[in-house]
Amino acid sequence: MREAKIQEFNKKIKRVVITEEQIKARIKEVGKQISDSYDGRPVLLVSVLKGAFVFMADMCRAISVPCEIGFMCAKSYYQGTVSTGIVNITLDLDQDISGYHVIIVEDIIDTGRTLKDIVNLLKTRNPLSIRVVTLLDKPDRRVVDFKADYTLFTIPDFFVIGYGLDSAEYYRNLPYIAEYQE
Ligand code: IMP
Ligand code: MG
Repeated sequence: MREAKIQEFNKKIKRVVITEEQIKARIKEVGKQISDSYDGRPVLLVSVLKGAFVFMADMCRAISVPCEIGFMCAKSYYQGTVSTGIVNITLDLDQDISGYHVIIVEDIIDTGRTLKDIVNLLKTRNPLSIRVVTLLDKPDRRVVDFKADYTLFTIPDFFVIGYGLDSAEYYRNLPYIAEYQE
């Protein structure tokens, strides 16, 4: 019985799309780009939970400028397909971000709504600058205009799991990114 359940669970991992090694290599590259660009200036890395928690843990260790870490949890609200621009923050930063160079560390940009709302919200708090680094980008799915400053991988329109990304809260612990098959 237990065996059958696990088999059923694993069957939904259709194929590996990005390996652990590929992720590691890109994080190293982009970490260097970011470190070079900030040239010794301290940054505040802000990650949007839950999906980005694994990426944040690896990304922050590839950045060599002094850095602080913050976490947010947010839900965006929409009227039909249009973002109302209202983000419900269920967990907010515990520091004042004015005076900080903020880098948002995100797992995936899909429609672009969540990130656009979060960036707009954080801008009202007067940081010195805001940039976005995303692990994955699905540009085919974009509904609002949004572009990250750093993108590790661009993927076509299919649902992915692993390395922090979930399907109904499962599969976040996979060390690679896989295509999900219901
Ligand atoms: P959006 O850009 O506002 O549409 O929202 C992006 C959020 O939707 C991400 O932060 C993920 O939590 C979730 N998401 C979008 N596409 C995927 C996927 O392929 N796998 C898992 N989560 C996804
Ligand atoms: Mg997310």
